[in-house]
Amino acid sequence: MSAGSFQAPKGIPDYIPLPRGERGSSADFVAVRNGLLRATAEAGYGYIELPVFEDTALFARGVGESTDVVSKEMYTFADRGERSVTLRPEGTAGVVRAVLQHGLDRGQLPVKVAYAGPFFRYERPQEGRYRQLQQVGVEAIGVDDPALDAEVVAVADRGFRSLGLSDFRLEITSLGDASCRPEYRELLQDFLFRLDLDEETRRRAEINPLRVLDDKRPQMRELTADAPLMLDHLSAESKAHFEKVLGYLDALGIPYTINPRMVRGLDYYTKTCFEFVHDGLGAQSGIGGGGRYDGLVEQLGGREGLSGIGFGLGVDRTLLALKAEGKTAPSAPRVVAFGVPLGEAARDAMVPLLARLRVAGVASDMAYGSRGMKGAMKAADRSGARYALVLGESELEAGTVTVKDLASGEQRSVPRDAVVGELTAG
Ligand code: HAM
Repeated sequence: MSAGSFQAPKGIPDYIPLPRGERGSSADFVAVRNGLLRATAEAGYGYIELPVFEDTALFARGVGESTDVVSKEMYTFADRGERSVTLRPEGTAGVVRAVLQHGLDRGQLPVKVAYAGPFFRYERPQEGRYRQLQQVGVEAIGVDDPALDAEVVAVADRGFRSLGLSDFRLEITSLGDASCRPEYRELLQDFLFRLDLDEETRRRAEINPLRVLDDKRPQMRELTADAPLMLDHLSAESKAHFEKVLGYLDALGIPYTINPRMVRGLDYYTKTCFEFVHDGLGAQSGIGGGGRYDGLVEQLGGREGLSGIGFGLGVDRTLLALKAEGKTAPSAPRVVAFGVPLGEAARDAMVPLLARLRVAGVASDMAYGSRGMKGAMKAADRSGARYALVLGESELEAGTVTVKDLASGEQRSVPRDAVVGELTAG
């Protein structure tokens, strides 16, 4: 690296204007983000734009002090006024904060919002695990209806499928509620403390015993094979809720696997919890996840008894998953028409023509500078445009433009005044 040349901070991907399908292509990125957002809009989620940093205490209290996200991965610093602020590691706590601050919880329920943007976690960077990660998320707050759980799962499923993604599966479970989880936790701890555990695992069993069940080491799998599972100790209410959710998913034709050992990295979850997993991604296989959170609203200062449910879908990982399947998400081309003016007079005529096309909604670009026919046509091809608009001396004289279909090679002469009409028709 020469002096004065910079690199992006470690573990942070750039998305730049590269051809579709190339790693790091911003067109692919936008197609995925917009496709996932479109699925949220189809189900009536309104867009919410949140601050990228918040009070540190919001995340400590909302996400949970014992989680890795809060204890090890937050970007926390004092601002110039000596307030402790943190770059958002996730979206749920910020959404609940905004809903309460603006009194949305006193209006029509559920409050249904969607968001998209960067989140920050100081993780060990590797393929699919970044320090600035991009999510599309939703939160539906204020109603504890299993039909809403099914809707949230269905929106994620629809979002992924609308991009063409297919080789993923949905894992789902219930983490119970305040009436059954504490009892189960004790039961599990009793079981775990009777085992011969290493020091670190024992400590984990004390702080968050559920996480021990997620230990992937074969000897731990064996040791905990007979551990009691939350699913077998649900309260009647949680059990009925979970069965209803599964019933709706069956009715919607959304396939799922029940994974009673699922552990999510955030503390606020209760009842329904789910993850979308893609097997083409190696270790970082989670392309999205979410669940219900009964206690979070109250914990952040809201009314008692207001539950919520939501998900966060990883845009970066969805891009990698599409690549693993050899697909690119569908999207409108960057430009539809590309001007090829030959000579200065032609350029003078092309500039207002492009302006009129843009106003009419036809995305357009042109070969700038004084390029010859060959170079300009190459630029037209590279642009991904559907049509090249060639304007040379003969066209200038005749008041026409040659419209060339870049896919078929067909071309026809169109009066210059009729070009906008031609390209917007049908
Ligand atoms: P999460 O499981 O921590 O949940 O993150 C959601 C998704 O973000 C993951 O499934 C993954 O695709 C992506 N992701 C997480 N960390 C990284 C990373 N370091 N690099 C790349 N991608 C990553 C949440 O954040 C919850 N707020 C979701 C939620 C909303 N639950 C209820 N409402």
